[in-house]
Amino acid sequence: MTTIDLIESASVDELRSLQLFRLRRTLRHAYRNVAHYQEAFAAAGAHPKDLESLEDLAGFPLLTKDDLRRNYPFGMFAVPLSKIVRLHASSGTTGTPTVVGYTKMDIATWSRVMARSIYAAGGRPGDMAHVAYGYGLFTGGLGAHYGAELLGCTVVPMSGGQTERQVTLIRDFRPRIILVTPSYCLNLIDEMERQGMDPAGCSLEIGIFGAEPWTDALRDELETRLGITALDVYGLSEVIGPGVAQECIETKDGPTLWEDQFFPEIIDPDTGAALPDGEFGELVLTTITREALPVIRYRTRDLTRLLPGTARPMRRIERITGRSDDMLIIRGVNVFPSQIEAEVMKVHGLSPHFQIELGTTGNLTSMTVHVEPQEATGTSPDEVRDVLARHIKDNIGVTARVVVREPGSLPRSLGKAQRVVHSTTA
Ligand code: DLL
Repeated sequence: MTTIDLIESASVDELRSLQLFRLRRTLRHAYRNVAHYQEAFAAAGAHPKDLESLEDLAGFPLLTKDDLRRNYPFGMFAVPLSKIVRLHASSGTTGTPTVVGYTKMDIATWSRVMARSIYAAGGRPGDMAHVAYGYGLFTGGLGAHYGAELLGCTVVPMSGGQTERQVTLIRDFRPRIILVTPSYCLNLIDEMERQGMDPAGCSLEIGIFGAEPWTDALRDELETRLGITALDVYGLSEVIGPGVAQECIETKDGPTLWEDQFFPEIIDPDTGAALPDGEFGELVLTTITREALPVIRYRTRDLTRLLPGTARPMRRIERITGRSDDMLIIRGVNVFPSQIEAEVMKVHGLSPHFQIELGTTGNLTSMTVHVEPQEATGTSPDEVRDVLARHIKDNIGVTARVVVREPGSLPRSLGKAQRVVHSTTA
């Protein structure tokens, strides 16, 4: 194992004592400086001085996105605004946006975990990194950028969109690494083919994919079509941005959570009860070094489990297959869009682009899956439609209507794909 930070090879015992020290300091900092924590801790009968072991954290209240929204825009900051050097915000498409602030030290921490992540994915100083995550209030672009620069990469700050131009630059500049959402990368590969390029023959060797759920089937597709190793990066703006956890190239077995900076717990999403390692539930994260916006027991809504360390002593999370708020309930059966992705990818003759349309008739929800045939294979639309409908029924247990659309007619992702749309009739 080669690493860039010594802490990556610390033993589990060393890690736990560092976490306890940092957690106590963070609790005091949050309590002293943020009214929300004073009130929420008091209501739960908890006080920072009560924390004697890491297990005691379970006695502290959980934090939700609604708590952050209620304190819009700067009410959760634990330092004066004059110490904040950067703001990011969630898109706010589903309500008031949440605002994230960073001190200089927070930016240094974030750059560090992202540099560490790129290194763990096989990136090295001197490599060229093409960043196709969006720049702006979204954390993807700038997070990847600062990390790659700190590592010593040559960064191409492309951002999302301008797909034709992205492909021209990849061909001309010859980057070794690409950082991009998996759905937008599919779009880039299609554009390479449209321009007569052989994607598998391009200069890219490593893809660092995240910001949305994706499956092992999509990993295979990206690796084969682009001739790369595809690795998973996880993160969320409320906690820092990309770089909370990174899959290591040595093992490719789910992202290693950078536990010297973020403390993970898994809870039962219905009861809020803490669950032991290995059990499946909702990931709850506590930042243990953040200055501007310390988050204590933040409910991510992401469903996963904690697994023992492999490439590093730090624990891993299992690849995130969905969020509790992305779960569809189709006639009593729980379905995640990623399960539909896995089935679409299995059908020979279908392109990996798909969209799920939900309709309601009376109080029943029905699901239509829109797909596109792959132009080159020439498979009949009726055949692929029936095969996909049967796979969905057999493997997921729901009945879905499948509509095969014209090649190129489904909306293409420019960042995070919108997998689900609603209609009144389906
Ligand atoms: O998506 C940060 C990010 C940027 C991560 C670039 C990785 C790469 P948000 O916009 O706040 O931040 O969205 C966070 O995206 O709670 C997950 O639901 C989802 N997500 C992020 N990474 C993954 C991943 C960024 N690797 C939300 N797998 C998170 C599955 C992911 N879902």
